[in-house]
Amino acid sequence: MIIAIDGPAASGKGTLGKRLAAHYKFRHLDTGVIYRAVAKVLLDAGADLTDEKRAVAVAYALDPEKFGNPALKTQEVGEAASVVSTIPAVRAALISFQRHFAGEPPGAVLDGRDIGTVICPHADVKIFVVADPYVRARRRTLEAIGRGEAADEAAVLADILKRDERDRNRAAAPLKAADDAVLLDNSHLDIESGVRAAIDIVEAVRAGRQRI
Ligand code: C5P
Repeated sequence: MIIAIDGPAASGKGTLGKRLAAHYKFRHLDTGVIYRAVAKVLLDAGADLTDEKRAVAVAYALDPEKFGNPALKTQEVGEAASVVSTIPAVRAALISFQRHFAGEPPGAVLDGRDIGTVICPHADVKIFVVADPYVRARRRTLEAIGRGEAADEAAVLADILKRDERDRNRAAAPLKAADDAVLLDNSHLDIESGVRAAIDIVEAVRAGRQRI
């Protein structure tokens, strides 16, 4: 089974995807980390984030062993990832890794922006997660402070709004809900309740399938 979790609020601390994967004993891939990893290599090299040739070369040379690097979590890297991810050739370079991951048994949960629409259009369950940007800004700020970073909530909010806008309006794999995705608004849900709601969606979709 493949579960696709997309949406502006698909990732975050204690990610829904990770928890859902643990619940079903599936593998989990936070695909934002892949774009962040490409961006980080370019940032560290002082390279131009829009240098397509270089970004594609970096994308092909990624080492998944490094996806757990906490330095990938910062706002700066997230913002850079959002720029790099607009390059169609970079996205294309990362497709086969993601599809391969999704296809391996016993099942997988992938979270990102284009999983249900582009990477795994035949995913068994698609969940599109949204949350009030003000709530997301508060959560991200607290996460950053928890990591020991300085964070200004107003600046975090501005960054979130700018990134969502860029993700939604880019030509390549824009952020949008698949037609068959189920919406989950977690503005007023804590992590536990969000996980519970996602499991309920998975079970409802599975039960619906079995009736057909
Ligand atoms: O989810 P996260 O904040 O880690 O993603 C960072 C950026 O990577 C997003 O703002 C988005 O531009 C890009 N991304 C993407 N497609 C995905 C996952 C992330 O374009 N599947």
